[in-house]
Amino acid sequence: MKTGLTGKQKQQFFRDGYIVIRNAVPEPITRKAVALISARLPENEHRLLVPPELATHEDILSLFNDTCLARIMDSEMGPYPAVISSQVAVTPPFNTLGGRPSPHVDGSWSGAIPGRADEIDAARGRPKDASRYFGENDNRRGSNDGQLWQDPDQTISLGSYTALVGVALNDQRQPGNGQFAVLEGMHEAVEAAFRMQRDSGGPIGPEGPGWPRIKVTKSGGTFLNGLPEIVRNKAAQAAKNAATLDGWPWPGLTPVLLNQGDAVIALHSCPHTSTPNHGPNPRMNIYFRIRRLREGNPHEGTRRVGHGVSDHPDRGYFGQFLKYPPSYNPWEISVAKLCDHWSEWDGMQEIVAAATP
Ligand SMILES: [Fe+2]
Repeated sequence: MKTGLTGKQKQQFFRDGYIVIRNAVPEPITRKAVALISARLPENEHRLLVPPELATHEDILSLFNDTCLARIMDSEMGPYPAVISSQVAVTPPFNTLGGRPSPHVDGSWSGAIPGRADEIDAARGRPKDASRYFGENDNRRGSNDGQLWQDPDQTISLGSYTALVGVALNDQRQPGNGQFAVLEGMHEAVEAAFRMQRDSGGPIGPEGPGWPRIKVTKSGGTFLNGLPEIVRNKAAQAAKNAATLDGWPWPGLTPVLLNQGDAVIALHSCPHTSTPNHGPNPRMNIYFRIRRLREGNPHEGTRRVGHGVSDHPDRGYFGQFLKYPPSYNPWEISVAKLCDHWSEWDGMQEIVAAATP
């Protein structure tokens, strides 16, 4: 069993913001997981709804917990709370997912928004009639589902973790089959955007400097904006010079081509997206969101945080605000990590030091 990344893999991971681990999961473990999911998928339905209990099933968690992935994360990142849940992500065959892929940084709110440009206050990207969409108070649960902000003081709007670990349960080596895709190498621009927001006084995340929460399209529509402006512009520029790929109409977006049992590890700051599945088979991926252990956090590892699935572990999984002692400020720590993502990777420190002028 692999227990860490090779020197070459570490260089790639540092450069690209993600790394593929071939044959990460032994065949018997993959087979069990595939059988479990396949048996529970409704047939002949356009949308495949995966029963929620699968996310915590031991045969699904085994894809991470009983494989080299758990060892690699321990040696390259460091200790982390027990992984108790996951995201079971199935894209049906011949499914366009409603159109274009939209790369984003995980952790943003994803509720309903006004549909017309004239309903948006462009600077922060908020609905002009905010209380209609966000409720009386942004930080209270209500029509906004309570996830607009990570803290009651509204200094940080983005949930975060250390790395997304994705396992492929079917063959996705042919582009256009619903691949997990990334804006390769854009993680450092994301980190730079967080630093700029911090240095400008915040807030960090959508609605902070340089990151309108809702944006307006050229045709006057609206969309939830998953990327800081500087990253969006940089990605658009990179896409102009990007090589084209057969069966992949999205230049600048890199498909992560995985075979069954392969895995990908991507930094939280590496923008990613699901993509349309033009193939005849369901695209089956299992995602684990791993956050490095935070000493002094009284809620570390409690079930209500949902470690493994949650992209906002400073709040409860269902959006509840957790109580923290005065000595521990989870949001300040998250901001510090967002602004220095490699600081969470014990095994990457030599490479980081060598690259630091
Ligand atoms: Fe995502």
